[in-house]
Amino acid sequence: MVIEKICCLGAGYVGGPTCSVIAWKCPDIKVTVCDKSIERINQWNSDKLPIYEPGLDEVVKECRGKNLFFSTDIANSIQEADLIFISVNTPTKTIGNGKGRAADLKYIEGAARMIADLATSNKIVVEKSTVPVKAAEIIMKILRANTKPGVEYQILSNPEFLAEGTAIVDLVESERVLIGGEDTPEGQKAVQALCWVYEHWIPAKNILTTNTWSSELSKLAANAFLAQRISSINSLSAVCEATGADVSEVARAVGRDSRIGPKFLEASIGFGGSCFQKDILNLIYLSECLNLPEVAAYWQQVVSFNDYQKNRFTRKVIESLFNTVSDKKIAILGFSFKKNTGDTRESPAICVSKTLLDEGAKLHIYDPKVETDQIYYELTHPQVTNEPEVARKNIEIHSSAYSAVTGAHAIVLCTEWDEFKELDFKKIYNVMMKPAYIFDGRKILDHEALINIGFHVQTIGKRLSRTSSIRAQGSQTLP
Ligand code: NAI
Repeated sequence: MVIEKICCLGAGYVGGPTCSVIAWKCPDIKVTVCDKSIERINQWNSDKLPIYEPGLDEVVKECRGKNLFFSTDIANSIQEADLIFISVNTPTKTIGNGKGRAADLKYIEGAARMIADLATSNKIVVEKSTVPVKAAEIIMKILRANTKPGVEYQILSNPEFLAEGTAIVDLVESERVLIGGEDTPEGQKAVQALCWVYEHWIPAKNILTTNTWSSELSKLAANAFLAQRISSINSLSAVCEATGADVSEVARAVGRDSRIGPKFLEASIGFGGSCFQKDILNLIYLSECLNLPEVAAYWQQVVSFNDYQKNRFTRKVIESLFNTVSDKKIAILGFSFKKNTGDTRESPAICVSKTLLDEGAKLHIYDPKVETDQIYYELTHPQVTNEPEVARKNIEIHSSAYSAVTGAHAIVLCTEWDEFKELDFKKIYNVMMKPAYIFDGRKILDHEALINIGFHVQTIGKRLSRTSSIRAQGSQTLP
């Protein structure tokens, strides 16, 4: 089966970049990315794309209007497509059974019903969203219960492993593409058709095929493993602070073991983003439903520890500032959940900022990519506060780090943007209140240099004091 036209439902952080790269690498395929949000599609068709990803603008500019289209005409796109990606959001349920843990599959179901209503020819339907194991069965049931005569469906699982901030590189140089399908001749034909699309640029050895359920579970498992590494190193960061060990040195020593490896061993204020917490909660809920409470408890600890780490850091900020931040001006540097993205979903900066606001602080926030309205939204919506006007009054958004820190009692660095390493901290020290504090939640600054300027510095996983530079000179470090 040859794929000539692809439709993608959902023009978000996954659907947009993934399909842009497919269009770029497969000039023989027409790719249409659809969304029910007119605003989002208008942004994809404008000069300012709705998401920031290094390299994305260039890819979109090259393909848009040639073989890449962004459209709200879902009906036509579904009807003409041979293959449809479902790339809609799968948030955690906020009400009802499984509230706070189970994935809300209403958008997946909605997409499946749309396809069932509109399709008039055979389709390969590809689940790209991250879903609980057996979600493909839901899609299959809806499609097959509503099939029109002569229309047949194959459902594949093809989870996306891109990371925000490096999405384009991740897609272009994928370490692995995972495709799960039914173990029937028709199912395997569909798997081969999707393999053919990826083989336009991915070496065949990097394309793994499995059964549908293994593919679905592998995505949850991959995110659970990654998050678990972060919680593991963060747990050791607390031990380091209590003992005088340095978590970066511990990570370097541990990561030299090829069985462990050096990646994802950076201690910080905790993980964020739309996926890690949601996907682990999903795995926890699944384990509970399968009557595996020990499995659920194991993974629950990864999420609980992340909350502990965010709170531990914020407590440290407050305690260092004489246990009161009321009416103090605090500069928050970085609001996105990690560098090189404007995405704020589950950003640790939200938790830190909310606690400081609750304690009466005046926050002066700067992030190079997050929109002002987005910051206000994250800190004033009803689930965060029932006094949005008070919160709003205590937040000021700045267009540069220098303006955010002027007159501040403390700087709280929440995101590891490279530009923060280049700041002129002597200049910053001179415009801050004294004693001037810096809390480096990402361990990216030169702490010795800051201490020498006169700052009081605190970070994750390392005890620092004004005399630490003298101690460090005499200490042994790993090569
Ligand atoms: P998103 O929220 O940015 O985008 C989803 C889009 O789907 C929204 O624009 C929404 O309007 C649209 N939508 C919902 N129902 C629709 C329908 N029936 N027809 C057309 N459009 C519809 O979500 P994001 O971040 O792109 O995530 C999508 C999925 O991919 C989720 O399951 C997520 O867990 C998974 N994922 C996300 C990654 C990330 O880094 N953001 C990485 C890997 C997987």
